[in-house]
Amino acid sequence: MSKAKTVFQCQSCGYSSPKWLGKCPDCGAWNSFSEERQSPKSLKSIVDGNSGPIPLSSVTGGNEKRVPVGIAELDRVLGGGLVKGAVILIGGDPGIGKSTIILQAISSIASLKGTVLYVSGEESPEQIKLRAERLSINSDRILLLPETVVEQILSVADKLKPAAIVVDSIQTVYTEELTSAPGSVGQIRESAAKMMFYAKRSGTPVFLIGHVTKEGAIAGPRVLEHLVDTVLYFEGDRGHPFRILRTVKNRFGSTNEIGVFEMTDSGLREISNPSELFLSERPLNTSGSTVIASIEGTRPVLVELQALVSPTTFGMPRRTSMGIDFNRLNLLIAVLEKKGGIHLGGMDVFINIVGGLKIVEPAADLGIIAAIVSSFRELPLDPQTFVFGEVGLSGEVRAVARGEARIKEAAKVGFKRAIVPAGNAERLKDNFGLTITGVRNIDEAIEHIGIL
Ligand code: TYD
Ligand code: MG
Repeated sequence: MSKAKTVFQCQSCGYSSPKWLGKCPDCGAWNSFSEERQSPKSLKSIVDGNSGPIPLSSVTGGNEKRVPVGIAELDRVLGGGLVKGAVILIGGDPGIGKSTIILQAISSIASLKGTVLYVSGEESPEQIKLRAERLSINSDRILLLPETVVEQILSVADKLKPAAIVVDSIQTVYTEELTSAPGSVGQIRESAAKMMFYAKRSGTPVFLIGHVTKEGAIAGPRVLEHLVDTVLYFEGDRGHPFRILRTVKNRFGSTNEIGVFEMTDSGLREISNPSELFLSERPLNTSGSTVIASIEGTRPVLVELQALVSPTTFGMPRRTSMGIDFNRLNLLIAVLEKKGGIHLGGMDVFINIVGGLKIVEPAADLGIIAAIVSSFRELPLDPQTFVFGEVGLSGEVRAVARGEARIKEAAKVGFKRAIVPAGNAERLKDNFGLTITGVRNIDEAIEHIGIL
């Protein structure tokens, strides 16, 4: 082997430099560089043994066979199931439920497909057993391996030939080829690359679990996003039982798909109808609450949005938003002031999406406007009405994508009336038994919602 090269790498963004730097020129982090020794040997070809060019027409396959994991919400985010040799990264905050979902998934894989190797560098077999008991999982086909050296993991895997492998977490494993500490960017990348070569060579699906760390801390799973086939992030609020598994990258399916779960005493429970769940505790006939129809991934979800508008006690009015973008809230308040004639200059405005959900699409705009006006005027909205629509800077209400899907979902949950952009109302082929009112600007919307 040729001589190993020393490089310095930023532990927060992965930038590498031939010499040590006090400040990272890429991400601006201070004192984030540490030494990594890189062996210059070339990475082995993914298609083992054959690295020459081949004509496109001679490549067969294309319709990858998917094997369902057996947990519908997980299969949905995976794009229909597991593909041979796929490497899946599951990221999320510590304590969100990554080890729980993976244990539930491998229990299902083990019963359908055979032995699963669960490598844990974080917890002892006893700790995993405790969790398994809580989830009522007991199987001879789940093999626990407390090991952190990636070469050892691979030699066990080579002998065992498992149906799937889990590495919990990728931050704890390291390769002996590098001298840097486990958890550093170089170690995480190199260990993940080795697991990936194994996956591609043997056709075994590999799950890598990664903690998302707060800024400035050791390397997070983001440095692996380009390497792996599928990236799933676990989102949710510790204070709420709802957990959302979101696809942010998928070489074998659509991205932006979500799976919804509820954390219970006996593990994660699938929620196949999220709208009903997000609306279950909705207070009826109180001001400041609206229901919006949002598209999460490919799926319409109805959620409750609350606003509280109250007089400012100190000089500066406060604006707080939970679940929607803060700048978007400020923009909509400005539109309301200027175009709707509603003066919020002396008012605090708080917005919250119930259930800990985050909504980024502008289709929530009209709902935010309706909730603010409803709270401001202390007039409750009709509980059987829902809204959606994007609001522009001139107060115009613009059409959004997939209007029909949103209305269909609301009809399923039992809504009777919809206030939607005129552009959407005109294009509708079916009203699904609802009374649909198209509006062109926020004045019309406020009038039709009945909070004038
Ligand atoms: P865990 O899967 O260990 O999180 P991660 O691997 O992402 O760090 O789950 C952590 C939390 O979930 C923990 O606070 C306990 C809770 N939990 C339940 O509420 N019910 C359960 O059945 C299990 C297994 C965990
Ligand atoms: Mg864990």
